[in-house]
Amino acid sequence: MDFSKDLLSWYDAHARALPWRGEKDPYRVWLSEIMLQQTQTQTVKGYYARFLERFPDVFALAAAPEEAVLKLWEGLGYYSRARNLHAAAKVVANELGGRFPDTAAGLRALPGVGPYAANAVASIAFGEPVPALDGNQARVLARALGWEAELRTPFDLLSPALERMNAARPGDYNQALMDLGASICTPKAPRCDLCPVARHCVALAEEAQEDFPRKPAPVPKKEQDWTILLVFAEDRLLTRRRPKGLLGGLYEFVAVEGHPDAAALPGVLEGLGFTGVRVMERLPGAKHVFTHRVWRMRGWRASCETFPEGFTPVDAAQIAALPFPSALRVYREIAGEMLKNP
Ligand code: ADE
Repeated sequence: MDFSKDLLSWYDAHARALPWRGEKDPYRVWLSEIMLQQTQTQTVKGYYARFLERFPDVFALAAAPEEAVLKLWEGLGYYSRARNLHAAAKVVANELGGRFPDTAAGLRALPGVGPYAANAVASIAFGEPVPALDGNQARVLARALGWEAELRTPFDLLSPALERMNAARPGDYNQALMDLGASICTPKAPRCDLCPVARHCVALAEEAQEDFPRKPAPVPKKEQDWTILLVFAEDRLLTRRRPKGLLGGLYEFVAVEGHPDAAALPGVLEGLGFTGVRVMERLPGAKHVFTHRVWRMRGWRASCETFPEGFTPVDAAQIAALPFPSALRVYREIAGEMLKNP
């Protein structure tokens, strides 16, 4: 017997009893899959029942005020899902005569329906043989196949997943993989002794279950050197609002890229439009680690006679009210002390 037959025999005997199981009505299947995307099955059960009671079909959902939909969604989180759900119901009810698109490609055109949900609904409601690749299904397949390539997204497995699908029962096949991933082929300590596809599993044969799926190496963080200057104009400190982009809208001090030495700094600042620059005191260094980059910062206290457009001199009370990024916390604290005790 092949992989999908072993899997489906197990599913026929052990499928979880869930309220949306056996359902073919696309409205109900779609509702369940949207709810299940970021939420545990146990939590979804109650919401699914209440939704169907209040909105038994797509016309009822489309006609409801948005507040009523959000209210019933309350507690499920990710409220954009509820707004998209409502928007998609309006499209189906008002533009498609109440009929859901019957292919994954068609379903994807609806608000809030991504590749995973589209394939889940198309396979379960319409029998289209497309894999519902989420993290669970990807884990099961990567282990079974001994998939050596790093997985950036579950859809990296699209072609082997398609090859293995059972074309006669695609919805059951997908839900069998969901159940297997949830109950047996778990991320840690999988129960391979209970697994219906153990004899097909490369990871088990290598006793390397937890090494699959292979995770991509973390992207190396880009390191950047900055020199942060607390530049005073008389007794006030120069700040500036950062433009759009990284930390956009937050405030910063005078900063130059790189780590020029004290002798070079006046020339660098004068090149930016400052005049009468005096560099006075070295401040502590600091490091800030972002998701994709690292700032290595050196600090100096300085003064100037005039400064270029875009900078605002502030006093102790003003600086306290401005939002600064936590990357600059060290310099912000030093600046606060300096302004309080000139
Ligand atoms: N998670 C997402 N879709 C599911 C389904 N149809 N059954 C069980 N768990 C799921």
